[in-house]
Amino acid sequence: MHNPAWWQSAVIYEVYPRSFQDSNGDGIGDLDGIIQRLDYLVRLGVDAIWVAPIYRSPMADFGYDVADYCSIDPIFGTMEDFDRLLEETHRRNLRLILDFVPNHSSDQHPWFLESRSSRENPKRDWYLWRDEPNNWRSNFGGSGWEWDERTNQYYYHSFLKEQPDLNWRNPDVRAAMFDVLRFWLDKGVDGFRVDVMWLIIKDDQYRDNPPNPEFSPTQSSGNSLLTIYNSNRPEVHEVVAEMRSLIDSYPERVLIGEIYLPLKDLMTYYGLDLNGANLPFNFLLLQCPWNTQAIAKVVSEYMKVLPHGAWPNWVLGNHDNARIATRVGRSQSVIAAMLLLTLPGTLTIYYGEEIGMTNALIRAEDVQDPAEKRQPGIGMGRDPERTPLTWDSSEKAGFTQGRPWLPIGADHQTVNVEVEESDEASILNLYRRLIALRRAYPMLVGGQLGVLTTLGDLLCYERSDGSQRLVVLLNLGQSPIHAETGAGIILTGTDSRRDSEQVGNFIELRGSEGVIVEVIS
Ligand code: GLC
Ligand code: CA
Repeated sequence: MHNPAWWQSAVIYEVYPRSFQDSNGDGIGDLDGIIQRLDYLVRLGVDAIWVAPIYRSPMADFGYDVADYCSIDPIFGTMEDFDRLLEETHRRNLRLILDFVPNHSSDQHPWFLESRSSRENPKRDWYLWRDEPNNWRSNFGGSGWEWDERTNQYYYHSFLKEQPDLNWRNPDVRAAMFDVLRFWLDKGVDGFRVDVMWLIIKDDQYRDNPPNPEFSPTQSSGNSLLTIYNSNRPEVHEVVAEMRSLIDSYPERVLIGEIYLPLKDLMTYYGLDLNGANLPFNFLLLQCPWNTQAIAKVVSEYMKVLPHGAWPNWVLGNHDNARIATRVGRSQSVIAAMLLLTLPGTLTIYYGEEIGMTNALIRAEDVQDPAEKRQPGIGMGRDPERTPLTWDSSEKAGFTQGRPWLPIGADHQTVNVEVEESDEASILNLYRRLIALRRAYPMLVGGQLGVLTTLGDLLCYERSDGSQRLVVLLNLGQSPIHAETGAGIILTGTDSRRDSEQVGNFIELRGSEGVIVEVIS
């Protein structure tokens, strides 16, 4: 790799700010809390934090309903707190990535208040108003159209009715939103994660979506149609390219896109001649069944279709999906960690993943997420993966002095930062060792990824840079495996006692054990 950009070799850490650290006892995490915990992230070894929305918001969708894009919500602190966060982050050589929510604002945003005030208002066309609704649905269930009494029209919302969609065909909207990006870039933020990038532009003729032949009534009703006219429209790439050129007019910034699309479509978000997102989030491992063949298949397919020069990235979890330790089970979460941290490109870790946090059980009376409230009991809720980071074994887990906004995970007495920091065998220390290894062996970031082979529960692949060769062996099963490797030395094992062990041509792996071997040939 010749002069890689900082984000290419980065491990990014997602902070869901409500749940990271509360500093003032109101039970909700805040900017001061993040500052207090930055040294933890330095010890972990990550390079950047992405902080989910912290802007002024009525919190109908916990910050993804922005009422002022250039402000800080008082729940999280003040603009001075933000400036301090940025400074403290940079002082530690960490980067700060913000969330940008361009598809929709809050219905309390002054733009929308104006837009809905009359049909003649100059901002009327900043949102999507129609006399008649079509069949487009909200991603949170139900029709995507909301009737407005005062002006006798419907407006469209891809999510809650409190989140009206902006009209990105309107040049004034683009200009206003690009000013927002400049505001934060001028402050010195290092980039953006763009919310629902593939939804930003809709069909200008508002054609009805066709039915989804694979829909079953157990799913969210949002899945009942194929969303061909309200998502992934060709014109979206124009918008993304404009965002990118704005970002690129500042040195060393990164543009990341949240995109849930099939692989082939996802790749188009790198843009023509790579003028799109630097990193269209790769969610393949979020959706992949946990077995060697499925993993080998998605990893090699992804690498194969990556456009020339495009930079790969990998994700195991985020604030919208079940935690990895819950999806694959606690014993396999170390295998997931070793997989993630030995794949090429940029990696994103979801807060708590590094200590093996699991989804929490949320009682009906504790439900916060509007996705669960609107469609209860079908697994739409995201509260289970959003519970407070567990810092220690005390009652409130060191997260707050007050009443936490979501319950503390029941396993927090054993799954917490304090306990794990002092336990050499913990998953936290595995994450640290793997991140350090990635730094020490740049081939893990930018080197070749050899063919992935599977033999029953054994997944095996090679990372190399021409002169050195690392072999990664992962046991996805519970039974021991006798595996062929090359003679060499274990650099990092899921069992830290095996680090530096010499291996011959064969190696014994226990159930759920993984090793990275430097092959001496
Ligand atoms: C994205 C966010 C999700 C939010 C939605 C609407 O998918 O990650 O949390 O609810 O957009 O903004
Ligand atoms: Ca607080």
